[in-house]
Amino acid sequence: MDDRPIGVFDSGIGGLTVVSALSSALPNENILYVGDTARVPYGNKSPQRIKQYSREITEWLIQQNCKIIVVACNTVSSMAIHYLQSHFYLPIVGVINPGVNFAINITKNKNIGVLGTQGTISSNAYGKKLLSKVPDIKIISKACPLFVPLVEEGLVEGEIPLSVAGFYLKELQSSDIDTVILGCTHYPLLKKVIGSFLGKNITLVDSGNAIARSVAYELNSHKLISTANKGEIQCFVTDDPKYFDTLASRFLHKSIIEAKHIDLS
Ligand code: DGL
Repeated sequence: MDDRPIGVFDSGIGGLTVVSALSSALPNENILYVGDTARVPYGNKSPQRIKQYSREITEWLIQQNCKIIVVACNTVSSMAIHYLQSHFYLPIVGVINPGVNFAINITKNKNIGVLGTQGTISSNAYGKKLLSKVPDIKIISKACPLFVPLVEEGLVEGEIPLSVAGFYLKELQSSDIDTVILGCTHYPLLKKVIGSFLGKNITLVDSGNAIARSVAYELNSHKLISTANKGEIQCFVTDDPKYFDTLASRFLHKSIIEAKHIDLS
């Protein structure tokens, strides 16, 4: 038994979709969440910058005595997961592998769509992982940069997100894909819109749910499970916590202790 917290981080607020899935799957685990709100978005930044930011956050979470690090951000998972895993001694789990495994188990025709930020899509991390597991898989990847600001504006239903979805997803709609990986922390909040545009025959893979299973597996195999904790969630942000607190309830339907400011520089 290990009562130390799980450390989770993201570029900003979106990683709370992963926290939400983790806290449902592992209700006895305490979670420390870092949202790098001063430096968001990560989706359009260089791999060097992403490595530096994610190393600084991981160091901070380790100083807070975290037992495992969950990289909720798809952009960091695409560009810096191997870098982090080789620099730190504790288990570090990213979203790519769990999302890929989930999608491979679901697809029937081996035609998969991947949606993500510009950084995630141009890294081709999902594509490479999918092909390494199923060499004859067909993949259509699409960067959807306007989805993140839509979610942050609370525009997750109605005409505006539907027309943006139409702009990005036309090619996927007319293809043979049967499974789509939502490869960005914010996209699960657009599930309804994306699903209604693509139609019922396409399954949407939410990386939050996929990663929760992997974290449970890692905790069990390293004997790091807590049985006594009450599932407290503490949030830390690098910019003014006010904005974060206002938006948090859209991403996490559970009360959290008010976010605190931290300085990583
Ligand atoms: N958290 C990022 C991701 O999952 C999306 C927001 C950003 O661009 O920083 O890729």
